[in-house]
Amino acid sequence: MSRDKVFVTRELPPATLDRLRKHCEVEVWQEFLPPDYEIICGKAGDLAGLLSLLTDRIDPQLMDAGPNLKVISNLAVGYDNIDIPAASQRGIPVGNTPGVLNDTTADFAFALMMAVARRIPEGQRYVQDGKWKTWHPTVLAGQDIFGSTLGIIGSGRIGAAVARRAQGFDMRLLVNSLETEEEIRQLGGEKVDLDFLLTESDFVSLHVPLTDETHHLISERELGLMKPTAILVNTARGSVLDPEALFAALRDGKILAAGLDVTDPEPIPLDDPLLTLDNCLIVPHIASASVATRTKMADMAVDNVIAGLRGERLPTCVNPEVYD
Ligand code: GLV
Repeated sequence: MSRDKVFVTRELPPATLDRLRKHCEVEVWQEFLPPDYEIICGKAGDLAGLLSLLTDRIDPQLMDAGPNLKVISNLAVGYDNIDIPAASQRGIPVGNTPGVLNDTTADFAFALMMAVARRIPEGQRYVQDGKWKTWHPTVLAGQDIFGSTLGIIGSGRIGAAVARRAQGFDMRLLVNSLETEEEIRQLGGEKVDLDFLLTESDFVSLHVPLTDETHHLISERELGLMKPTAILVNTARGSVLDPEALFAALRDGKILAAGLDVTDPEPIPLDDPLLTLDNCLIVPHIASASVATRTKMADMAVDNVIAGLRGERLPTCVNPEVYD
């Protein structure tokens, strides 16, 4: 009997791939850059499973090119790269990797907040440029984190992990999210509307998934509500923020600074005006990138593939309606 074929769109830890190979024939895309959309479509006809990354666009055409697909497993908690209604219509379960990255990502949101507030990247450039001549009372003075007001937009699993960290910094916590007042109180926060959060917060951290509703959730009007001393951190998805409005707000001093793990587009083009700003720290979508967490994410993605090939319910399925 021929074995199921699975395409894995990037190299994963060898032990994880070996585990997958016990269940199916595995082809792994060996290059550093993702396979083109057309390449995945070209392979789809032979596939029972696809292990994708957030850089792979998985749309209805691709699904139609793979009529035997039993599972699509995304190595990410976010799945805005996949047309979920289209997968559900075709009866294809889609898996993601929630949970294991909450604390790693929350650590990183805090790292960005602190790096920007305390001007750590600027400090390194200052030293490297030979500007460190003496201790000076005002040089590279930044913003305090402790005791300030943190606004969390979206208090799902990652937002809640950020909220827990905020307690250790004695922060006042404002939350705008779908969770109930009681759930937010349990996080030590106060449920508020978006405008109030933006007006009151010293730090704003974004933790909503990218959907039609959250696309450009933070644009010119919202940035205009923020304090001129406020710092905005995005570890969610780039297009939750309107990049042109963000550039103008940072350039014109409407807000103090931003820390971005995600951009729109990704990677950010080298001629993007945001890269010319000293008050915008940008890193390449690495918030979940600890060795331990990325290994766990790969394991979860493989577990989803194995379950899908066996016709079992995916351990972490984003469209459970396929089982109705
Ligand atoms: C990373 O951004 C993820 O969605 O896991």
